[in-house]
Amino acid sequence: MTDRYAVIGNPIAHSKSPLIHAEFARQTGQDLNYEAIEAPLDGFAATIARLRNEGYKGCNITVPFKFEAYQLCNQLTGRARAAQAVNTLLFEEGEILGDNTDGAGLIADIEQNVGCKLLFKRVLLMGAGGAAHGVIWQLFNAGASVVIANRTVDKAQQLAAEFVSYGTVFASSYEALAGKQFDVLINATSSSLSDELAPLPSGIFAPHALAYDMMYGRETPFMKFARDQGAATISDGLGMLVEQAAEAFFKWRSVRPDTASVLAKLRAQC
Ligand code: ATR
Repeated sequence: MTDRYAVIGNPIAHSKSPLIHAEFARQTGQDLNYEAIEAPLDGFAATIARLRNEGYKGCNITVPFKFEAYQLCNQLTGRARAAQAVNTLLFEEGEILGDNTDGAGLIADIEQNVGCKLLFKRVLLMGAGGAAHGVIWQLFNAGASVVIANRTVDKAQQLAAEFVSYGTVFASSYEALAGKQFDVLINATSSSLSDELAPLPSGIFAPHALAYDMMYGRETPFMKFARDQGAATISDGLGMLVEQAAEAFFKWRSVRPDTASVLAKLRAQC
């Protein structure tokens, strides 16, 4: 029988996840169906209950339900616990198991697809919301030191305090970054959605620096700024999307799909 999976979000129509998982399934010969389901904003738990009743094997969770998903789980992986957010659920024998593959997806994309090793790198993580929270633990795991910069400095300080026992982390305002340089700059803010740019000082990119935007689909103001400032490598977040999906697919099916071919296919469509 064909196993059923889904991605749950609101809105969800734009999601590329069904296409990515269909490619993974085709490539690995797995018999599964993966669809996009929009849950009402006040109906996430009811949607999950319905899917479990109908025999779905698991699902991915996207905006704005990752924290609610975290709260629903009976069991959590360490990385989901650290992120306090869940993007992957497994339904097993009456239990809901929660994982977070976003951070692993980011690291895999930066290290394998972009080709930038994070060990001992000085990382500037821009933003202190859910997207930043979801990846910080994995940045430490990869051996990077992290400065969190946020418009509302209090939030950066809270995030840094939460993770201080995991690795080297400092909080900063954007203004206080003047005169500093970083090897890897990751835009985890939602500023691109409104076509804005966090107030980064000029000269912040070290030679050979990577500018990474978690958004994808078009050149963001951050990517344009990085180009104007001469950043050596600039990447959007499409690879992160594919890699976090591959990690979820592996959790469900115990088979690791080839991400490079799927990423190339998606890039060709963009
Ligand atoms: P997400 O889950 O996508 O991280 P979020 O939790 O709402 O969304 O967080 C959005 C992040 O983007 C915050 O860090 C926000 O900064 P503030 O905490 O100061 O609000 C940041 N952000 C949004 N628009 C921004 C802009 N124009 N410039 C700089 N930072 C911005």
